[in-house]
Amino acid sequence: MVKVAVLRAAGGIGQPLALLIKTNPFVSELSLYDVVNTPGVAADLSHINTKSKVTGWVKDAQLDQALQGADIVVIPAGVPRKPGMTRDDLFNINAGIVKTLATGIAKNCPKAFVAIISNPVNSTVPIAAETLKAHGVYDPKRLFGVTLLDVVRAATFVSEIKGTDPEKTNVAVIGGHSGPTIVPILSGTGLSFTQEQREALVKRIQYGGDEVVKAKDGTGSATLSMAYAGYRFVNALIAAGFQGKKGVVECAYVDSDWAKEHGVDFFAAPVELGPEGVAKYLPLPALDDYEKELFKAAITDLKGNIAKGESRITGKV
Ligand code: NAD
Ligand code: LMR
Repeated sequence: MVKVAVLRAAGGIGQPLALLIKTNPFVSELSLYDVVNTPGVAADLSHINTKSKVTGWVKDAQLDQALQGADIVVIPAGVPRKPGMTRDDLFNINAGIVKTLATGIAKNCPKAFVAIISNPVNSTVPIAAETLKAHGVYDPKRLFGVTLLDVVRAATFVSEIKGTDPEKTNVAVIGGHSGPTIVPILSGTGLSFTQEQREALVKRIQYGGDEVVKAKDGTGSATLSMAYAGYRFVNALIAAGFQGKKGVVECAYVDSDWAKEHGVDFFAAPVELGPEGVAKYLPLPALDDYEKELFKAAITDLKGNIAKGESRITGKV
């Protein structure tokens, strides 16, 4: 049985994500934390007749209680974008939020799997890593940036064009989670595209978040599709980490030797999950020439995004 904590659980992503996690029969406790409104969200969810006990924690003073004994911590905390903003514009405020939450994790549940949704993911994951390192509890196999929404979008957009079953369409998306760092490997789908179709698809996948921000017209960014993608990732962690399921593979933004060989500390790629977090860093799908160019551009941007996150904690530029 697994205790899952959702930090900032009363937000746009937090609420539907908590609802989906409440449906998982392997969850024994669903611990909901936010700066406001968690008692109400927890009371509401607690009436659902699934096994997990729901607890609601509110304000900084209760963060420790929310985290004690957590096996998985999901972080959809922080401010979302408005039209005209980049994810990097969220850095200052969300960096502080992620640092506070990672400190709580270091103190209360240092062995938990940590899944970070807060933007800019390319920088918030390095912030969490450096915070955990500062407390001497960093395990790179247990920290994940959630990039699965890009994979979900890629499957949807490809299936719209090719007429495939979206649930059976698999597109690996590597790199990071913003604009040019998002690299969909369409050549690995076994489907054929014209170069024009490919360029349009890559652009739509890279800027899928902007499509939602624009449509929501100032009221926020993707919440429901993110909750779906976040739950898919939590489910994968539960299945591989706690139910003994083998061969569970998802793309995630992780610290790996492979990334370091390519000049970055973190890179989103397919990983096999297991009881210790990452069980295996899988080889990257083969890239064709067009994708190699996208990959190079991604590495360039990622270097800056990662250095910005790391230096926020280490003070080194
Ligand atoms: P939201 O505003 O609806 O909810 C965010 C939560 O954080 C709220 O519960 C709020 O209480 C809390 N919060 C907001 N400002 C705060 C502050 N100053 N101090 C402390 N807590 C604060 O936002 P959302 O739509 O749920 O998005 C949350 C985050 O997830 C954003 O950073 C967004 O960019 C990111 N996001 C990431 C992905 C991804 O693919 N990784 C997808 C969608 C959204
Ligand atoms: C997304 O991809 O939808 C999220 O990262 C939210 C955003 O700001 O676009």
